[in-house]
Amino acid sequence: MSVSDDNPDFEALLNYLKQNCGYDLTLYKRASLMRRFQRRMQQLRIDNYPNYLQYFQGHPEECTSLLDTILINFSGFFRDRDCWEYLANNIIPQILTNKQPQEKIRVWSAGCAYGQEVYTLVMLLVERLGIEQYLQRVQIFATDVDEDALKQARQASYTEHEVIGIPNELLSKYFEKTEQRYVFLSKLRSTIIFGRHDLAIDAPMSKIDLLVCRNVLIYFNAQTQATVLVRFHFALTDKGFLFLGSAESMTSNKHVFIPVSLKHRIYAKGQNLTIDDHLLIRPQTRNKKALDPLATQIRIWQTAFESSPFPQLVVDRNGCLMMTNKQASILFNLQSSHLEAPVRDLEIGQIVNFLTLMRQLHRDRRPLTLKNVEWKSDYGTNCLDIHITPISDPNHTLIAANLTFIDVTRYTGIKDELESSNFKLASLTQELQLTKDTLNTTYQELESTQKELETVHQEIQLLRQGFHNN
Ligand SMILES: C[S@@+](CC[C@H](N)C(=O)[O-])C[C@H]1O[C@@H](n2cnc3c(N)ncnc32)[C@H](O)[C@@H]1O
Repeated sequence: MSVSDDNPDFEALLNYLKQNCGYDLTLYKRASLMRRFQRRMQQLRIDNYPNYLQYFQGHPEECTSLLDTILINFSGFFRDRDCWEYLANNIIPQILTNKQPQEKIRVWSAGCAYGQEVYTLVMLLVERLGIEQYLQRVQIFATDVDEDALKQARQASYTEHEVIGIPNELLSKYFEKTEQRYVFLSKLRSTIIFGRHDLAIDAPMSKIDLLVCRNVLIYFNAQTQATVLVRFHFALTDKGFLFLGSAESMTSNKHVFIPVSLKHRIYAKGQNLTIDDHLLIRPQTRNKKALDPLATQIRIWQTAFESSPFPQLVVDRNGCLMMTNKQASILFNLQSSHLEAPVRDLEIGQIVNFLTLMRQLHRDRRPLTLKNVEWKSDYGTNCLDIHITPISDPNHTLIAANLTFIDVTRYTGIKDELESSNFKLASLTQELQLTKDTLNTTYQELESTQKELETVHQEIQLLRQGFHNN
């Protein structure tokens, strides 16, 4: 088999995967992709792409095995140690200097594989900030396209061989040893949100101070690399930093990022984006020619929706999921395959009855709010206020609803504390009243005893007088 860029059989296979497995491998470099396909086909003793396509049609589970061969999850703690040292000594202090003392710090590890990169970041940040400040201020997003890798990353459990790169003092400080495995401290894991995110397709995160994307871009073709870098530019705050892998360089998009240390592959944000660049930010927007005003406006609205810091969903009038932004996808564990699915079949369907909701919106035609709705997820229990806005067509027919979720867990916690303090205060007041009543009774008893004593005294006096008179 020849390794070429222009092989119709191979392209047909990639298109089949795009339609049926939800993975768009057309965006990856052909030469290395073909080598990996061939490796898998050799294992199955299949010698050409059309036969492999036929095999796929009869074995849908083959998608997972192929992706295991293609998505190389190799990673390691402190991989390229000198780069991490540079980050710890020069970049993290700079990020902290740029912030107010209590301001949040947002970090994104994109293509985090089994989590070693994320936990390396956590150790460096805790070393610099101290545990308390770290827990209060840092939020880490750890994403990968590979669900299995994410599952392992969440477990944070590594073999003796895998932790070799970690200096001993950090290993004993940040890991618990259980049955020959080292598990990263769960207390520190609470600040990490793991989620599936396809860099080639999905919209980026926003307001990120440090974006670590190492050894991922090398797999993409030049055009996809350029698109992803523009999205990274959008994701970063103006003073944010991008940290790439040692084998990666900024061949295109030179204006978008400027090197801070080329040797360590650390970049700062460069020039502002052009309108053409902006069009590359939203998911799957690669057609630069589509610049008519309406399309541009729709893209701007969509980008605003996708990059909102609050989780948001749009559900159609039949209760099927139409749109979801990144924050909602992470919170409710939503994937692109869930689009158009009835919401009652998804996890989010457990907390909101969408058909009842649509009936109410249809009847009342005004926004409504569901207060203090409890949502239990891998990350704990959240209390949410859900703001629901009806979306109607020009004839005022209800076509969909927009749902925005505001996390009120902290507020609810404070309210509960206040209620319990009020309750304590009421029972203390009651106790005080009781003590006052008891005191009153005792006082009255004392008074009547005193009166009795006076009477006895008078009687004694009278007896004495009688005695003397006799
Ligand atoms: C070689 S690992 C790098 C892991 C880690 N960043 C490091 O440098 O040690 C590449 C990772 O990129 C992920 N990946 C590949 N294509 C991706 C995509 N389109 N979006 C997000 N992650 C992707 C793979 O699943 C894999 O976990």
